[in-house]
Amino acid sequence: MNEAMYHPGLEGIIAGETAISTVDGGLRYRGYAIEELAKQASFEETAYLIWHGELPNATQLGGLKQRMAEARVPQDVMHFLAVMPRNSNSMDVLRTGISALAHWDTETEDNQPEANLRKSERLLAQCAVLVAAWYRLRQEKLPLGPSPQRSLAGNLLYMLTGQEPTPRMVKAMDVSLILYAEHEFNASTFTARVVCSTLSDLHSGVTAAIGALKGPLHGGANEKVMEVLGDVGTPELAEAWVREALARKVRIMGFGHRVYKTGDPRAAYLKSLCAELAAETGHEDMEQMADIIETIVTREKQLPPNLDWPSARLYYYLGLPVEVYTPLFVASRIVGWTAHIMEQLANNRL
Ligand code: COA
Repeated sequence: MNEAMYHPGLEGIIAGETAISTVDGGLRYRGYAIEELAKQASFEETAYLIWHGELPNATQLGGLKQRMAEARVPQDVMHFLAVMPRNSNSMDVLRTGISALAHWDTETEDNQPEANLRKSERLLAQCAVLVAAWYRLRQEKLPLGPSPQRSLAGNLLYMLTGQEPTPRMVKAMDVSLILYAEHEFNASTFTARVVCSTLSDLHSGVTAAIGALKGPLHGGANEKVMEVLGDVGTPELAEAWVREALARKVRIMGFGHRVYKTGDPRAAYLKSLCAELAAETGHEDMEQMADIIETIVTREKQLPPNLDWPSARLYYYLGLPVEVYTPLFVASRIVGWTAHIMEQLANNRL
């Protein structure tokens, strides 16, 4: 084999081009810095931007919200979820649920750009319902439906917890959805593009992407982060724990990134929101513990935290169960995946 041509993990290989986001000099969706979007836009506006290339005006945004409100998960798919073994992995159930939706979507086989956009909007709304429904079914509770009065972030919180979230909770969830929405050619997005480059359908691309995201080296890391924090226990034990872990060459979840070698801008942004929410919910100890671990891993291994490091804590402070953390990543990244599928098909090469 020619050594010069072998790039494990496709590192450094340019497999395609995208106009959807850029990572050099900070993460931007369609030219907009994620920090600006997190401050000034909603997740729905961000989704519109990622799909269309420009922010929506009030009518366009209203139209998107209306179509999302009309997108229902068919009762048959709900029944399907209800009979799944209760010990099933939440990501597996979500993957099967999205795949099942294809059977009831009248446009599954239509790969025209307009049909794919309509399916993307529907899937965004339906995915949130599936994530929350499975969590409630596992607890033998009845799934709750969304309300057009709430944003997607508000609906997610309500459908999971059964309680009306405060505006601050909704904002925190909205920001996390914005930050997870898109990240150019990562493993799951690449998977979605490869599947659809065969002229397969959008549901197949998204289903495959969920399988790729599940792994702990990718989206599954946000759940593993909680195992790290649970293992460490208290701020007093943090330094000894992390030094011992590094000495044993343990891979600490939530640190390192294939692209960001000097820091993930999304993690930096979410950190301050985490600290605010921790103070409000009485979790200062966990913030302090996370801070000690972060300082040591960054200094001694030159491995700054990635987005999953603060996201896990943010969801924990919002009172959400760990098993929905990676499904919540899907509920947001489905926007990026579908935008990439449409971009791939607009200029396809297998
Ligand atoms: N903790 C400890 N060491 C780590 C590490 C981590 N989180 N991430 C990378 N390293 C070390 C590796 O052990 C390796 O060390 P070695 O050269 O002594 O063998 C070196 O850094 C390079 O690792 P590699 O896996 O080749 O780097 P990468 O850039 O390809 O990896 C990740 C990127 C994300 C796969 C990797 O950093 C990781 O596994 N992180 C933890 C999982 C995670 O948080 N994933 C979410 C990503 S957004």
